[in-house]
Amino acid sequence: MVRKLACVVGARPNFMKMAPILRALRSYPDIRPILIHTGQHYDPQLSDVFFQDLEMPPPDIHLNVGSGSHAQQIARILEKMEEVLADGAPDGGRFSRIIVVGDVNSTLAAALAAAKLEIPVAHVEAGLRSFDRSMPEEINRLVTDTLADMLFVSEPSGVENLRQEGHSNDQIHLVGNVMIDTLFALLPRAQGLDTLARLGLRPKEYAVVTLHRPANVDQRETLGGLLKVLADVALQLPIVFPIHPRTQKRIESFGLQHLLDNHKSSRGLNVTPPLGYLEFLSLTSQAKVVITDSGGLQEESTALGIPCLTVRPNTERPITVTEGTSTLIGNDPDKLRTCLEEVLNGRYKTGRCPDLWDGHAAERIAAILAHN
Ligand code: UD1
Repeated sequence: MVRKLACVVGARPNFMKMAPILRALRSYPDIRPILIHTGQHYDPQLSDVFFQDLEMPPPDIHLNVGSGSHAQQIARILEKMEEVLADGAPDGGRFSRIIVVGDVNSTLAAALAAAKLEIPVAHVEAGLRSFDRSMPEEINRLVTDTLADMLFVSEPSGVENLRQEGHSNDQIHLVGNVMIDTLFALLPRAQGLDTLARLGLRPKEYAVVTLHRPANVDQRETLGGLLKVLADVALQLPIVFPIHPRTQKRIESFGLQHLLDNHKSSRGLNVTPPLGYLEFLSLTSQAKVVITDSGGLQEESTALGIPCLTVRPNTERPITVTEGTSTLIGNDPDKLRTCLEEVLNGRYKTGRCPDLWDGHAAERIAAILAHN
């Protein structure tokens, strides 16, 4: 009998995690993945472009929930997801399991809707903990893991955290990092693009910056301070800064646009709209340094061996610091400057790619799903 798996995506970082899982599941004819997009991210640059770049099939079902407060967004997904899951797969039959990835609101809401209908939940990227509950994603991680009976983990700290929280060993599977599967698969295509030439950049002679965490961008003073530091950095090294819509909206509403405009062309601060997966990977993979508050980018930089100055006081991905290329700098301008000096002088640590971040994590997940 063919088993129907509900595979849920919603926001930008979900797509590159689900794509290799869908591909790996093709080897198992008795499993039929049904792709459900919640619509948490809806701008073409945050969603459609990823489907193209990652060669993902279009979603079988789209919930079109859009933006809202956390409660609104989660409530809308819960309501619509319950309906879809209760109705069963498009060509009939009950969903035998749901797969959720990462830590966004869609992850939590979909897992909760499924658990309430007694549909078993598999969570990919389980066990990661920043131990900082002011971060919306930490709540999402904790709740999703509580609901899941199959926990796919990307690094050993996740195994430890799940054991501490009382999960049994037979539920925990250390499989590696699916996002790195996508990175290794698409790196040659990304590096074949002319993105650097188009932006007037040379390999290893620029920094890539991304900022979108509420803790960094939702207060005027913090965001203003960070933009000033970036303008300083741009005096030493050209910066490419693809801006997330949340950050752009805050810059406008706080009246901070002048900080970018003053420094843009003359001082090497190149602000762009959000980029697709391939274009962005072509930039990060050839950068001198990455400055970011993104979770995924800490991991991607580690896999690529590119220094990553992480604009956060903590991380749920500690292996990127202990084995990889990331350093936590909080939002301390002095620490950023010191680390940047080390990068420019060739004294920054080199790091290594963690075990099981080998391009085959999704195959391991598919095999476990197929045999359980
Ligand atoms: C979400 C995730 C975060 C992830 C990030 C990656 C949660 C709690 N947060 O944050 O973990 O790192 O995605 O991008 O799930 N907006 C648009 N167009 C869109 C989507 C959003 O303009 O397609 C704007 C809206 O003003 C919206 C705001 O961005 O209110 C925030 O979007 P939301 O999905 O709530 O959170 P992100 O900040 O994107």
